[in-house]
Amino acid sequence: LYFIIVLNWHPLKCQLPQVKGANLSAVNLQDLVLDRTSSISLSQQLTLQLSQWMVSGRLAPGTRLPASRVLAQDLKLSRNTISTAIEQLRAQGYLTSQAGNGVFVSMDLPQKDKPLLHTAIQGLKKYPPLSNYGEQLQKNNFKERSGQLPFTPGVPDLNAFPYKIWQTLLRRHSDRAVLGGYQSNQGYQPLRENLAQYLNSSRGLRCTPEQIIITQGAQQGLALCTQLLLNPGDQVLHEEPGYMGARKAFTAIGANINPLIMSPNGLDVSQLPSETTAKLLYTTPTHQYPMGGILPASDRLQLLNWADKHRLWIIEDDYDSEFHFYTNPIAAMQGMSEQSPVIYLGSFSKTLQPGLRLGYLVVPKPLVSAFVQAKSFICGESPSLSQAVVSDFIEEGHFIRHLRRMRLNYQKKWEHMQSLCEQYLHNTMTPIAQSAGMHLVLESNDSKLDDVQLHQRFSQAGFGSSPLSYYYQGEVKRRGLVLGFSNTNEQERKKGIQALATLL
Ligand SMILES: Cc1ncc(COP(=O)(O)O)c(C=O)c1O
Repeated sequence: LYFIIVLNWHPLKCQLPQVKGANLSAVNLQDLVLDRTSSISLSQQLTLQLSQWMVSGRLAPGTRLPASRVLAQDLKLSRNTISTAIEQLRAQGYLTSQAGNGVFVSMDLPQKDKPLLHTAIQGLKKYPPLSNYGEQLQKNNFKERSGQLPFTPGVPDLNAFPYKIWQTLLRRHSDRAVLGGYQSNQGYQPLRENLAQYLNSSRGLRCTPEQIIITQGAQQGLALCTQLLLNPGDQVLHEEPGYMGARKAFTAIGANINPLIMSPNGLDVSQLPSETTAKLLYTTPTHQYPMGGILPASDRLQLLNWADKHRLWIIEDDYDSEFHFYTNPIAAMQGMSEQSPVIYLGSFSKTLQPGLRLGYLVVPKPLVSAFVQAKSFICGESPSLSQAVVSDFIEEGHFIRHLRRMRLNYQKKWEHMQSLCEQYLHNTMTPIAQSAGMHLVLESNDSKLDDVQLHQRFSQAGFGSSPLSYYYQGEVKRRGLVLGFSNTNEQERKKGIQALATLL
């Protein structure tokens, strides 16, 4: 300790600032932007800006500060404000004072021609390199999805949500201190119990609450699957056209996508390869996304046997099976056989709200620990309060009642869409009419239609959509628009389809 103190006080080590020609008034003080209406005090604003000038080299080391009286006059601030800022900067090491000589910018700060922040180097190059994964994402032309316009796919009827019931349940749980602490990375236990009961009785799963992992939306479930089931360079079998959110998650970690051959019922099991090195197959058997096919039970069994034989995982994405209008949905593949190699993926984004960011995975028991660990490293718990509310929402029967109401709601909208398409688009677009879900694919009768341009023009007219070509990774075989009708009212539907007819 003695040596450390002595060395630190050694006169060579403790460089005193040189009085330089430049002083603060030489730098244009008018460039200081002080907001007198801000809730941040003027001394704090001054401290922050001067420290930024010093770090960027704009105020060179050794620069002498004018006397606080002069600064106060020039900046039209009180001396008190100036002294507080100078004291702060001195305490933070930006300024040093020399008895009788004044206050100086510390010599330890960077020179103007060698600023600490290499502001001269533009873009990403000025930062240290990224991982392979980061580099891969950096190359993508990624656009955030926005769900504000009517017809944006994937948004449930947000006006029909039972907000009153939700508020009552929210109030019930909002002052439970225990929910404010750390809970469980795997998910709120009562929610996992209620969900297991719902999935087993309504979707034909075979699962216990211990197999459920609550995620932040199904998308996080997909991200966890990519981490635990795939290595860069692995092959993934994927529906084509198919869900972009899954495809992008797989390709981002360096997996290669092999498109599956499709039939009107979803993936064509008779065309599954007889040999494969793929590690995973992603499918939406209960309502193929986006084309809407429903995979028959016999095909599901065949697919399970095939996956078992070739030792690959199936991700069964059951994103909106609650909305089949005239028949009950076919039971999930997960429950069709004991120990099936299936990871079941679910979401509350369609049944409740996407803004909740709650989804779930059902995984075979031996995988639970690895999945929960991965989740804990990525984000830890999903918000406990929302989980407690959803748990009661299910337990008290609100969930089933809400689904029943929404099924009728969407059925009416779906029928309305059919008649509008018949009326306005009969010779330009064909609705791919599966009586389920929250969206409709309008396939263009013109196979050369530029559906991206149509989507852009439709958006300029005030309506959301996705071009069908976006759902292809390889050659685009069908073109058109995917329209989400669940979050539209009658007038919007009519105006939208009329606008589309005009554009076409
Ligand atoms: C096919 C499919 N799977 C999964 C999801 C996931 O949704 P989330 O991450 O909002 O739960 C969506 C959302 O649009 C979807 O269309």
